[in-house]
Order: sequence, then C-alpha cells, then structure tokens
Amino acid sequence: MITVTVPMKKSAEKYRVECRKHAFSALKHAIGGRRALLFTDSNVLALYGRAIHRALPGVPVYAMEAGEEHKTPQTLFALLQEMAGAGLNRASVLAVLGGGVVGDVGGLAASLYMRGIPCIQVPTTLLAQVDSAVGGKTAVDFCGVKNLVGAFWRPEKVIADPAFFATLPPRELRCGLGEIVKHGALDAALFARLTAQDDLFDLAFLAEIVPQNIAFKASVVAQDPFEKGLRKCLNLGHTTAHAFELSSGLSHGECVLWGILFESAFARSLPGADGEFLDRLEALARRALGGGEVPGVSGLRAALLDKKNTKADEVTLTLPLAPGKYALSQLPFAEYEAGLRAARERLC
Ligand SMILES: NC(=O)c1ccc[n+]([C@@H]2O[C@H](COP(=O)([O-])OP(=O)(O)OC[C@H]3O[C@@H](n4cnc5c(N)ncnc54)[C@H](O)[C@@H]3O)[C@@H](O)[C@H]2O)c1
Ligand SMILES: [Zn+2]
Repeated sequence: MITVTVPMKKSAEKYRVECRKHAFSALKHAIGGRRALLFTDSNVLALYGRAIHRALPGVPVYAMEAGEEHKTPQTLFALLQEMAGAGLNRASVLAVLGGGVVGDVGGLAASLYMRGIPCIQVPTTLLAQVDSAVGGKTAVDFCGVKNLVGAFWRPEKVIADPAFFATLPPRELRCGLGEIVKHGALDAALFARLTAQDDLFDLAFLAEIVPQNIAFKASVVAQDPFEKGLRKCLNLGHTTAHAFELSSGLSHGECVLWGILFESAFARSLPGADGEFLDRLEALARRALGGGEVPGVSGLRAALLDKKNTKADEVTLTLPLAPGKYALSQLPFAEYEAGLRAARERLC
C-alpha cells in the first residue's frame, strides 16, 4: 500500500489517500463502528453490489442514475433525504463509491448535511483516482453550467484501488489519461515516465502511476487549497476542453486531450516555449487519444462562460511551456478564436 498525505497549508487538517488493494475491507475498517450510508451510481452498483453487501452488511445503499446529466440539485437532495432517512448524524459517515460524478455529488451532500459530516471517498474510475477525489472540490451542475453550485469539502480519507480499472471501458481509461497527460505536462518526472511507456492503456502501468499522479496533485492542492494561485496550473488545456465539451459530445478527458493539443499551439509563440517539449507533449496526447476527428472550432464562444475568465470578452488559458513550466495567458476572444483556427489547420 502507498499512502499519500494531503497536508493543508493554512490549517492543521490533512487527510490520507491510500493507494491499495482490497478497497472494500479497507472501507469497512475506515467506517469502523459508525452509522453509515453508502452512495454510488447504478452502473457501479450493478458491478459491485454483491461485494458491497458482503463487506458492509446492514449499511444502507443509495444509488443515483449514472451519468453527468444526473449530477443535479435533484440528485443531491434525493441523497440528502436518504441520509436523513438513514438517521445519519455528525458522528456518522458517508461512504462514496464511484466515479467523479458520484464523488462530486456525495462530497457536496456531506458538506451540507448538518453543516458537514465526514465522508470517505472510494474512487472507481481512473479519472476520479488521479484527479477528482483529491483536492476537496465538490459540486453539482446547475442552470446548464457545469459545477455551478459546490463547496470545498475535504474527505476524511480516500481509498484508491486499481482493481476497479478492470471493469472500466477503454473510453473511461482515456478519460483518466486526459488528466494524467495534463499532470505530465506540469511535472517533469511524470512526463519522462509517460513518454517512455509504449502502451498507455496497460492496466499494470496505470496502477503504477496513480500514486505519482495523486502525489503531484496533492502537492499543488496543499500549497493552494482554494485556487488563488498555483492551483490554476491544473486548468491546463481545460478552457478549450470545457468549450469542446459543450459543443462536441466528447467526454471530458477526450476534450482535455484535444484542449492540450490546441493550447500547445498557442504556447509555441510565447517566450520560454520549448518547441521540442511541445512536440513530445503533442505526440503523447495523440497517443492517449488514439485517433479521432479533430473537433471543429465554431461554437466555442462557450469558452467565454468559463469560470476562470475575469473579463467579459477575454479567455484565460494555462499554457504548457517546457517540462514542469507553464504560463497563464489572457487573450481577447477574437484572438483566441483565430488562434484555434490556425491550430486546427496544423492538427488536421
Ligand atoms: N472535484 C474535482 O476536482 C473534479 C475534477 C475532475 C473532474 N470532476 C468531475 O468528475 C466527473 C467525471 O468523472 P468520471 O469520468 O469518473 O465520470 P463518471 O462518474 O460519470 O464515471 C464514468 C462512467 O464510468 C462508470 N463507472 C464508474 N466506475 C466504474 C468501474 N469501476 N467500472 C465500470 N464502470 C464504472 C460510471 O457509472 C459512469 O458511467 C465530472 O462531473 C467532472 O466535473 C471533478
Ligand atoms: Zn479535468
């Protein structure tokens, strides 16, 4: 077992991310004698329902319908109702088993119920293990805007077991690889590891690099828990990715990979840009994507709605420059759009 501690700069609080096998017995141990409710989704319940009931007999289970379209206030309040019905109190714990959707909804419910109760996150997708379960951000989508309503709420513990990857469809692995390639663009050691690997989808390889990814994200979050400065580096590729997500129908991770490819093109003209590094980053993102049509760039005005923007007609980008180096850039929308068109020609 590898344990990563996520320390918090401005408080004594910290929590542990355990990268280990046997998630269900670890969860049972972590709950201990406390009253609990397990929150999951319909797909995870279908796959792991028997294991849940075997490990946690008597613990009530509530499963939301799987899918981003159900990451809503309605689902949040349905869960809060189940928590009240199960008689949870401040001495209780919410166990959250699933991908990033379940993690975000469950974490937010834990932050709201009785003004906050403990939660244990057991992420079951690659994306959730390397990204969403670490860092304490929780949210639901609202009024057509992703993650509009949320809170920072740290889990008591995170249990990350690579055995869950065995049931993930390849597309979900690719989704996690989007965030892993992003981390690689920001961390020179991880970049070297990723570029040396032939098969990025190999499950043993992925299990091996999960702790490195968690440690990288944890170190960033620890220095800037509320995204005032350094944590903005984690938005690399994401401004364009969020706009693609609304316009293309591709998954988040696929859009992150395309976002990295398009935004690398912007980075090439910046002082300090390392062209050879950007070539290698591009090749890595393409390998993770495994092909696919280059998304169109009309309809990307949605990029202006991004939460990261601070001025009305400007977009904010976190651009890769060199191994472990990035730049924050603000561009007028017209310039951004022209740059995307040029980047698309280059990528096609
Ligand atoms: N809080 C954060 O910091 C943060 C960071 C990144 C992403 N997110 C959020 O995470 C969400 C995306 O997460 P995701 O990609 O995990 O999506 P997801 O939770 O929808 O999971 C993807 C699919 O995989 C299924 N699934 C989960 N575990 C499985 C398993 N072991 N085997 C087979 N199928 C399984 C799910 O039912 C779902 O159909 C988005 O809502 C995004 O906004 C949050
Ligand atoms: Zn992301």
